[in-house]
Amino acid sequence: MLLIQSSVSAQLDLFAEIADLKRRMNAVILAHYYQEPDIQDIADFVGDSLALARQAAETRAEVIVFAGVHFMAETAKILNPTRQVLLPDLAAGCSLADQCPADRFREFCAQRPDHLVISYINCTAEVKALSDIICTSSNAVAIVNQLPLDQPIIFGPDRNLGRYVNRMTGREMVLWPGACLVHEIFSEKKLLQLKNRHPAALVIAHPECEEAVLRHADHIGSTSSLLRFVQQSPIQEFIVVTESGILHQMQKSCPDKHFIPAPPNGNCACNECPFMRLNTLEKVYLAMVNRSPEIVMDETLRERALLPMTRMLAMSPV
Ligand code: 13P
Ligand code: SF4
Repeated sequence: MLLIQSSVSAQLDLFAEIADLKRRMNAVILAHYYQEPDIQDIADFVGDSLALARQAAETRAEVIVFAGVHFMAETAKILNPTRQVLLPDLAAGCSLADQCPADRFREFCAQRPDHLVISYINCTAEVKALSDIICTSSNAVAIVNQLPLDQPIIFGPDRNLGRYVNRMTGREMVLWPGACLVHEIFSEKKLLQLKNRHPAALVIAHPECEEAVLRHADHIGSTSSLLRFVQQSPIQEFIVVTESGILHQMQKSCPDKHFIPAPPNGNCACNECPFMRLNTLEKVYLAMVNRSPEIVMDETLRERALLPMTRMLAMSPV
């Protein structure tokens, strides 16, 4: 019987141990920008959903340790089935994926048989398998713009990203009514108060935010687009309306600039994604030692989910 290690000694230098395990296992650690700073610092690659999917598809490492949420690790498995994919905490889900059960989405699509189905990557493998094309916040506008203007489209599961894409492309896609619990909680009123206190700051926001918040943004984009924007801008101060994990890379690459996390509604820490933050350095270490939790997927499902992913990669601007 395999013994599963469940705790970590406080004396252990986790940075050194993880580096050693990476070498011995021929593993790569991929981390999303919403992971805690320590995890971002030990990762081989930190990126947005599209960049992480590309890395997962291309890696030659035998093991992919995915420091992100479940749909991201599943995406890595879909794209690179011969690798072992580990997710430090299997409970790291996503409100968007949770709000779009495959059986209900199947019915929704069946009621509109002439519609092409585009799904945001933040969904389960089952929903991907029901879709024609996958997109991320980096390439959604570019992908929709490649489709004929008279093509009816269903877009799921994020209604806020869908609304934003409709506005940018002049379409009227039918939207599945899902939302991200982190991005929906930003308060327009508090954002305006913050803008008044920092009149020189630019507001940068993720398209998962509601329209009332996006209306005040000077730049809207995926996490990597927001990071690029602050790196290239001559401006010194930014109000950042997305999960606060991204501030780590912003501060690291622009130490002289000032980044202000946008306030959520209420006095909570809800601009941290509760799913992303389930991963810890200890859990990354334990996942490597135990080679578990592992993402395992039925091969028929994987092949069906791969097709719309492949279309996405082919339609994505470089
Ligand atoms: P991107 O990093 O692709 O912009 O996605 C943000 C997000 O919410 C991931 O769950
Ligand atoms: Fe899902 Fe929102 Fe968390 Fe991203 S930030 S993983 S969309 S719940």
